Amino acid sequence: MNSRDSEHMIAELREKEGYEVTDDLSSADLIIINTCSVREKPVSKLFSELGVFNKKKKEGAKIGVCGCTASHLGTEIIKRAPYVNFVLGARNVSKISEVLHKERAVEIDINYDESEFAFNDFRTSPYKAYINISIGCDKSCTYCIVPKTRGEEISIPTELILREAQKAVERGAKEVFLLGQNVNNYGRRFSGEHEDINFSELLRRLSKIDSLERIRFTSPHPFHMDDEFIEEFASNPKICKSIHMPLQSGSTKVLKDMKRGYSREWFLNRVQKLRSMSPDVSISTDIIVAFPGESDEDFEDSLSIMREVEFDQIFSFKYSARPETEAENFTNTIDEDVASSRLTTLQNLSVEILDKKGKTHLGKIYRVYFEELNQNYYVSGRSDNNMFVKVKGSDELLGEFRDVKITEIGRSTLSGEIVG
Ligand code: 5AD
Ligand code: SF4
Repeated sequence: MNSRDSEHMIAELREKEGYEVTDDLSSADLIIINTCSVREKPVSKLFSELGVFNKKKKEGAKIGVCGCTASHLGTEIIKRAPYVNFVLGARNVSKISEVLHKERAVEIDINYDESEFAFNDFRTSPYKAYINISIGCDKSCTYCIVPKTRGEEISIPTELILREAQKAVERGAKEVFLLGQNVNNYGRRFSGEHEDINFSELLRRLSKIDSLERIRFTSPHPFHMDDEFIEEFASNPKICKSIHMPLQSGSTKVLKDMKRGYSREWFLNRVQKLRSMSPDVSISTDIIVAFPGESDEDFEDSLSIMREVEFDQIFSFKYSARPETEAENFTNTIDEDVASSRLTTLQNLSVEILDKKGKTHLGKIYRVYFEELNQNYYVSGRSDNNMFVKVKGSDELLGEFRDVKITEIGRSTLSGEIVG
């Protein structure tokens, strides 16, 4: 989400203000930090980074803080770092050129509706296009700050999404990556009049675009994974067979305390249905350990569901209390040493499962879309089931699909040779 928001801001700054992107801090006229506030760590990092940027920046260069931490801290950022020129919330990126010309502007209105905003065009990668399909989130997971920073959920009009995808394809992208907090809740609410349409129908319409070969999305919510969605996912050949299913906990009791809206059984039922219809699907997940009240048995439930599902990738986090969330006031918190030890146990199990699963890739042939030129004459890309694959080759492969036979497996990278 933040990467796409950055592209939106870059597009506006290039078209309206004449800026260009640079990697060189000391020559930059404007430094923007696009922040995340989901967990506490990146928030504290912000202020130390701001200090460094302020010291190293060119005389007269401006500094802007954008994104979720901007939404949630607002004017406090300027109080703590008075050299910051503007603060722009995650829901307000379209106002970038406006705040740029104001003194110490703080624009963090979460009711601001960007769903109809036609941004200028800037894409970091010519090969794939990130496309927002909704903004905000209407859920109230008790640990999560996102509804407070990104506001209520609004779906982007279908016409705009199709037009964005068409435009990207005309410029050579063969893959689109749909973005939203809960993509499979698409159509829940539009800001104006709109036909009734759900995520499965959006996928069907997108896949009619000629020359668009791949559709990816993140994140679907397990609660909204109905049969229609799973059937569309499995039967539509343009939809990549990899899916992120954020579980958060394997314990139904903890899921209830988190207000996730589903049980362990429902999650497992959806995984089974998905795998029965799409046997090669790779499934990744997010798990939080040491949520307030998580007992040893609850934690064991998270470990056992990991063993049962054998996820292809797991992002694991220690629970971090966030301001203005319901769980912030829960008193049954877990001791730090218990939390750390649970995270280590979970991550060790994750490595074990990944090592076991990794071996199954050896000798397989995957269709890879090459996107990046690496050192030592390697070119890399992703398989349909989202494995990161590299082969020896040159830039001629960029933007091309090839069949690759996997000859070597690493934890995060597979190596192979082109066979077709
Ligand atoms: N503490 C720890 N992890 C969190 N996440 C969201 N909020 C918190 C929090 N307060 C994790 C969830 C989510 C991912 C993006 O970040 O697992 O899916
Ligand atoms: Fe946060 Fe829950 Fe919304 Fe995801 S669904 S963004 S975890 S409130």
